[in-house]
Amino acid sequence: MKIAMVGSGYVGLVSGACFADFGHDVVCIDKDQSKIDRLHDNIMPIYEPGLAALVESNVKAGRLTFSTDLPEAIQGASAIFIAVGTPSRRGDGHADLSYVHAVAREVGESLANDAVIVTKSTVPVGTGDEVERILHDSGTQHRFAVVSNPEFLREGAAIGDFKRPDRIVIGTEDDFGREIMQQVYRPLFLNQSPILFTSRRSAELIKYAANAFLATKIMFINEMADLCEKVGADVQDVSRGIGSDNRIGPKFLNAGPGYGGSCFPKDTLALLKTAEDYDSPVRIVESVVKANETRKRAMGRKVVEALGGAEEARGKTVAMLGLTFKPNTDDMRDSPSIAVAQTLQDAGVKVRAYDPEGMELAAPMMPDVEMMKGTYEAIDGADAVVIVTEWDAFRALDFKRVKDLLKTPVLVDLRNIYKAKDVEEAGFTYASVGRV
Ligand code: UDX
Repeated sequence: MKIAMVGSGYVGLVSGACFADFGHDVVCIDKDQSKIDRLHDNIMPIYEPGLAALVESNVKAGRLTFSTDLPEAIQGASAIFIAVGTPSRRGDGHADLSYVHAVAREVGESLANDAVIVTKSTVPVGTGDEVERILHDSGTQHRFAVVSNPEFLREGAAIGDFKRPDRIVIGTEDDFGREIMQQVYRPLFLNQSPILFTSRRSAELIKYAANAFLATKIMFINEMADLCEKVGADVQDVSRGIGSDNRIGPKFLNAGPGYGGSCFPKDTLALLKTAEDYDSPVRIVESVVKANETRKRAMGRKVVEALGGAEEARGKTVAMLGLTFKPNTDDMRDSPSIAVAQTLQDAGVKVRAYDPEGMELAAPMMPDVEMMKGTYEAIDGADAVVIVTEWDAFRALDFKRVKDLLKTPVLVDLRNIYKAKDVEEAGFTYASVGRV
């Protein structure tokens, strides 16, 4: 089967490469000529473990190609995926659907065969209806169905998530749509991966509800962490204690500096906008969004405290380890590190940083942060170390070396990757999240 993937960003490229690996004939399309040129040279626009190798082998096998010419590339495709960005619209937080609509128009104008148009981009409820209207208005004579098929890929684990999904959600009530989607996901059907057929609107909402629920789980444990610090309890024990209840589950209960990334911040905001439009408030999500915003700066203040308070902290230098919103990605979008660094700088603290993958994207976003070449270069001569992202590279720091390089042995661990006992025995003053 031929599949066209419109949008060769994170979701489009991972999905396109995985579909090709399933044996389909896939063309990934993008308007950005330089991105397509680089893909022809096997240079990935994003950092994702395993992606370059997957792309390369499928290109070699002749199953994966790239193009900037949408009208030509979609010819003969039975499934045309829309995987373009839906950023937060400036000013009001609504998802910006202009790219999705533009693709729908272009597809409608150039459709030369029957096809299923699949929205993979995260789109608010009702977008499928609008895409369908646009296609009708284009006057196409071909049979088409508009299907919603949200993605649940985690950055850094996207290929595994695609090939071994917890579930696949397919929103369509159209027989043609259903039939084509069954062929698209055939290997996973055969694998008996759970496939959930729903209405299109339910599928659209599932994506937002899933992300909002996960964000809620994170913020719940973060607030429990704050309470743990006050009452003298340990949040990791609390996580284990509640997470071993099957109804709660152990995942997404790691306390930290708040959530970031390309999905949770944007999707929670967009869900609030939908709720507002339909006059059906989701108050839990409202407070999750607020709590996350407040938390990021609170983490900066935690570092100031560890330096001895506002007076003492002024003029000191902090080495930040980790800038990306989570490990194994170079993604800086809405990363808590940005607010932590800003809060420190507002308090007159100098910030230097090292991140294994994120510095190129981070540098222009944090012009006053000095980017260093390595972990120990960042630590050399600083007054404190703060771990913001839990990269493996920071999990086994050479404490003796760190202590020798620091002016004062202060370690703030915003991801709870160390045990207080080990760090304190090595002679550090240690602060973490939700543990006393
Ligand atoms: C998320 C969803 O997991 C995925 O299903 C969806 O398709 C896109 O959004 P991603 O943004 O890649 O994926 O990251 P994820 O691993 O979910 O982490 C999101 C944020 O939450 C990160 O900032 C992470 O550090 C934070 N987090 C996660 C916690 O603070 N604690 C946790 O226990 C889990």
